[in-house]
Amino acid sequence: MRTICLLATLSIFSFQANAAALNHDSANKLMMKSGCMTCHSIDTTKIGPAYKDVGARYAAPDAATLAYLKGEKPLDYLMKKVRAGSKPGVNKNWIKSKEGKTYGLMTPNPVSRISDADLKDLITYILSLK
Ligand code: HEC
Repeated sequence: MRTICLLATLSIFSFQANAAALNHDSANKLMMKSGCMTCHSIDTTKIGPAYKDVGARYAAPDAATLAYLKGEKPLDYLMKKVRAGSKPGVNKNWIKSKEGKTYGLMTPNPVSRISDADLKDLITYILSLK
């Protein structure tokens, strides 16, 4: 009986985990709600890099990107970076876009704007883009 209850609980949890995965529309809604949209778009360069360029960079990291990550997983690193914002000489990573545009700086993004769970879902989605 105990085993059956445990299995039922586990399957509910895994269903919820799957249900949280974002798609283009739900990611856009979350970006709008959390203020990311001011500087980012999924497909085009704005003040910050297009999310699909971010996904592509971490899917196939070059030597500079690997040095920047210092052995951390992209998801862990980016959770901290998006919270803290970018600081020149410390963690500014994106310099110029493919179109030759110089990127600005990312302001900090506090929990009052996006919860840890939502931020994790959004970065997981960004890292799935190529
Ligand atoms: C004020 C503008 C601004 C806002 C608001 C903003 N960003 Fe950014 N973001 C940037 C800029 C500019 C960069 C690239 C500069 C750099 O390397 O730090 C960047 C970089 C990033 C990166 C790549 C970081 C890296 O080091 O590879 C991610 C991921 C990201 N932003 C996610 C988010 C999310 C999620 C939000 C909303 C919660 C958000 N940003 C809000 C401007 C912004």
